[in-house]
Amino acid sequence: MTKTLLVTGAAGFIGSNFVRMLVKRRESVKIIAFDKLTYAGNMANLADLLGDQVVFVKGDICDPAAVTKAIEDYRVDEIVHFAAESHVDRSILGSGPFVQTNVVGTQVLLDAARAKDITKFLYVSTDEVYGTLPEDQPDVKFTEETPLQPNSPYSASKAGGDVLVRSYFHTFNMPLLTTRCSNNYGPYHFPEKLIPLFVTNLMEGKQVPLYGDGKNVRDWLYVEDHCDAIWTVLQRGAFGEAYNVGGNNEMTNRQITETILKAMDKPWDQFVKYVQDRPGHDRRYAIDATKIKEHLGWEPKFRFDSAIKTTIQWYRDNEKWWRDIKSGDYLKYYDTQYAGR
Ligand SMILES: NC(=O)c1ccc[n+]([C@@H]2O[C@H](COP(=O)([O-])OP(=O)(O)OC[C@H]3O[C@@H](n4cnc5c(N)ncnc54)[C@H](O)[C@@H]3O)[C@@H](O)[C@H]2O)c1
Repeated sequence: MTKTLLVTGAAGFIGSNFVRMLVKRRESVKIIAFDKLTYAGNMANLADLLGDQVVFVKGDICDPAAVTKAIEDYRVDEIVHFAAESHVDRSILGSGPFVQTNVVGTQVLLDAARAKDITKFLYVSTDEVYGTLPEDQPDVKFTEETPLQPNSPYSASKAGGDVLVRSYFHTFNMPLLTTRCSNNYGPYHFPEKLIPLFVTNLMEGKQVPLYGDGKNVRDWLYVEDHCDAIWTVLQRGAFGEAYNVGGNNEMTNRQITETILKAMDKPWDQFVKYVQDRPGHDRRYAIDATKIKEHLGWEPKFRFDSAIKTTIQWYRDNEKWWRDIKSGDYLKYYDTQYAGR
């Protein structure tokens, strides 16, 4: 029997890649793409996928009536919860929307899932909930047992959702799953984040802003690998468990910048501008993804050196997509497309 998935945040970067992957693989699921369309939600990410298999519902996860209505109208079986305020810099400017969506929104979804007997609920968390790692101990990585010690309002709000999920499992014995993934890159990534910002700035002939000394380390994973890991955990994960997801690909922001400049044939001196570091900028993230490999047989399939080239090429091939975002035109898409319907 075909299952119905409610995918929150489906018009964002990873959510839309997840929906795209399920459609491309011809998975036997109906997808209700539920999204508030904040500045980060973009109908252009989903437009070509909408039809019998994928239905779009505009709604706010903080609105219990809207969430319950979507679950009832479409007889939703399972929920994959991506929706979030996701940009650390914005959380430093103002944490209100982060607490609202990432904590309260998650609580609203959990309560609706409980009331409607949802058969599986997966919370897409992040490695940022663990805080930061020492740079001089490369063997130390985040495991699922690492205490949650978030350092930014963004990661604190994601940790709030993460521990709420944990508490609902222990209190109500609900069918809950959590993934904690490292930094993603790939198509449809909003150009306020490092890789798409740098690639599109260079295409526009502009400089790229590199924070601090450029030595902050992140573990980069191609978005399709993350989506595949989420699908794997949804199929075979044990309820109440969290699974780390990582690419085993630690790189400094400087190395990422060098890779992009080289691929785009731009000289460092002319195009890199060092800017003052982000306050509280975590130095190093690195994921130990042994558990998902040993328990569920998941491993990343994409290699960084080729997937970053695919990503850069995607931005070359989809100039209208990112230019509409940078000019703000994408915000008009929903109203133009759906006004009066
Ligand atoms: N991007 C990464 O590298 C990364 C890594 C690990 C985990 N994550 C997590 O994955 C999830 C998706 O991240 P992303 O990079 O795709 O984010 P994104 O900002 O690109 O997309 C978020 C989506 O959620 C929607 N949304 C926001 N508030 C909403 C609300 N109140 N109700 C309904 N929809 C709402 C937005 O409109 C947008 O479409 C987030 O939970 C994030 O914490 C991201």
